[in-house]
Amino acid sequence: MIKIGEGDFLKLENIHVHFKIRRGLLKRLFIVRALEDINLWFGRSSVLVVVGESGCGKSTLGRVVAGLQSPTMGRIYYKGKPIDKLNKKEYLEYRKSIQLIHQDPYSALNPAKTVFDILYAPLKYWGIVKSKDEAIDKVLELLEAVKVTPPEEYIFRYPHQLSGGEKQRIALARALSVKPKFIVADEVISAIDVSLRIDLMNLMIDFWKKYGIGYLFITHELASARYFAELTNGLIAVMYLGEIVEAAPPSELIHNPLHPYTKALIAATPELILDLSKLKSTKELPLKKVDIPSAIREIPGCKFNTRCPYARDECFKIKPKLINVGKQHFVACHMVNAS
Ligand SMILES: Nc1ncnc2c1ncn2[C@@H]1O[C@H](COP(=O)(O)OP(=O)(O)OP(=O)(O)O)[C@@H](O)[C@H]1O
Ligand SMILES: [Mg+2]
Repeated sequence: MIKIGEGDFLKLENIHVHFKIRRGLLKRLFIVRALEDINLWFGRSSVLVVVGESGCGKSTLGRVVAGLQSPTMGRIYYKGKPIDKLNKKEYLEYRKSIQLIHQDPYSALNPAKTVFDILYAPLKYWGIVKSKDEAIDKVLELLEAVKVTPPEEYIFRYPHQLSGGEKQRIALARALSVKPKFIVADEVISAIDVSLRIDLMNLMIDFWKKYGIGYLFITHELASARYFAELTNGLIAVMYLGEIVEAAPPSELIHNPLHPYTKALIAATPELILDLSKLKSTKELPLKKVDIPSAIREIPGCKFNTRCPYARDECFKIKPKLINVGKQHFVACHMVNAS
């Protein structure tokens, strides 16, 4: 179990999500193993940054955490209680306290609604405001908080009148409107200009500092992952085909990666090279194959065996366990576990 931070906020135990899909002329049934055996325990104000290539299950994990995707197997606990045992009040509190910011800002905001309508909807739904006048004040306050200013100029705009960065700030304001304890931020920075990414991350980090909001921050870029985790005392988890293969505090992960997949990701991230001198092995890792196998393929043993240059007999037969090698550093690799 990977425990992040102090206290008991949300626990995912042995979570699997399998999707059934039909493919081809014969409509054969396939199983997509989007998540497999995920064990995570979030404390109060905890931050987990998740990295991994497209299709590895990041968004599915985010949806499970936010209560929008039921696991096929496994259990979720909110403040120590299984979510299927929560009473109505507790369940509503759970759903309100974890908010999700969607991967795609273009489909996340209804193009026919103004910024006011978009932010008023959750305020009304959760009974946070009693009248429209009160809502206007609250919306202006939210716009100020996410630095979309002057707020009076933006409140009645439509999404198409906003830049990509502004859209993401509105999505962030919507998440903040219900005073959440935890935000799942699914690739919120990937759709915006590189120069604006740091600003948006800094804004989110400020909410962690000021209000103790925890995050599941999803990205496919290691450099942003490192930045976000470093400034929030977070952990970075590396996902591969539905599994967490390595997790550690950012500087430990960057300077002392143990899983061959993490090493390959680092070698492929030139932005990190700034202090790669500290990295034990700077040599590019020769992967056997570049492509990720399809998520519908069943791979016995370690799922990375098709690409791993070190794969040996047991890697094709036995699935490696995710073990704690010390200092909050977790890895699932036979090579490391044996040494
Ligand atoms: N509703 C669904 N039905 C069938 N398969 C799905 C569904 N949602 C996701 N998948 C599959 O599950 C796997 C994980 O998808 P997911 O969207 O979680 O990945 P991701 O890491 O967020 O990818 P990306 O970086 O492209 O956003 C993929 O193979 C995807 O095709
Ligand atoms: Mg995704």
